[in-house]
Amino acid sequence: MSVHIEALKGDIAETVLMPGDPLRAKWIAETFLDDAICYNQVRGMLGYTGLYKGKKISVQGSGMGIPSAMIYYNELISEYGAKNLIRVGSAGSYQKDIKIRDIVLAMAASTTSGINNSRFVNADYSPTADFELFMNACLYARKKNIQIKAGNVLSADEFYEDDKEAYKLWAKYGVLCVEMEAAGLYTLAAKHNVKALAILTISDSLVTGEQSTAAERESSFNEMIEIALNIT
Ligand code: ADE
Repeated sequence: MSVHIEALKGDIAETVLMPGDPLRAKWIAETFLDDAICYNQVRGMLGYTGLYKGKKISVQGSGMGIPSAMIYYNELISEYGAKNLIRVGSAGSYQKDIKIRDIVLAMAASTTSGINNSRFVNADYSPTADFELFMNACLYARKKNIQIKAGNVLSADEFYEDDKEAYKLWAKYGVLCVEMEAAGLYTLAAKHNVKALAILTISDSLVTGEQSTAAERESSFNEMIEIALNIT
């Protein structure tokens, strides 16, 4: 057991898919995995291990935001030997040509979080995706004719920002979309020399104000999960 996960050593696979929402973890496990077993219910942050095409895979909820997610990333890596952490989540578009339901691979994650200011004083660290996972995701998407976009994303500390126009500066510098966890994931993965990738589905647009319906979210979510399950 670790502080926030009640699994025994060996219960969790080396590859862990990580949605923010624990009920998404349940849905992914029940929909895509064979013989899935729930290994964690502490704080309702559900975690499952099962088989995908005969290979052991886990799915663990992370909660929303870098502070919550880093607890799970830390414990999965340090206590359970996770080697491939793949965030699967939603994001808000910052660009006209990044549309609802688009899938975005986060090559790098800029952030408004202070996590790296205390690590790298008077300097900026650039949290980046693992190249092999990233390349495998591109190749798999191409093989299956799944359209993807890739680039810099923003991992924001606040969902509800005071300044509704603040996104425009990030957009001007090429940031594709906003989510709330990838920079924490990439930073810890680098620190512990494990692999990480964030795959995101666009659920809303700050440019147009659109929001996706539940039905729209589900179909693009399936393709995102399919990519995540086939790159390790
Ligand atoms: N995840 C999905 N949409 C988001 C948004 N607009 N801001 C932050 N995280 C998000």
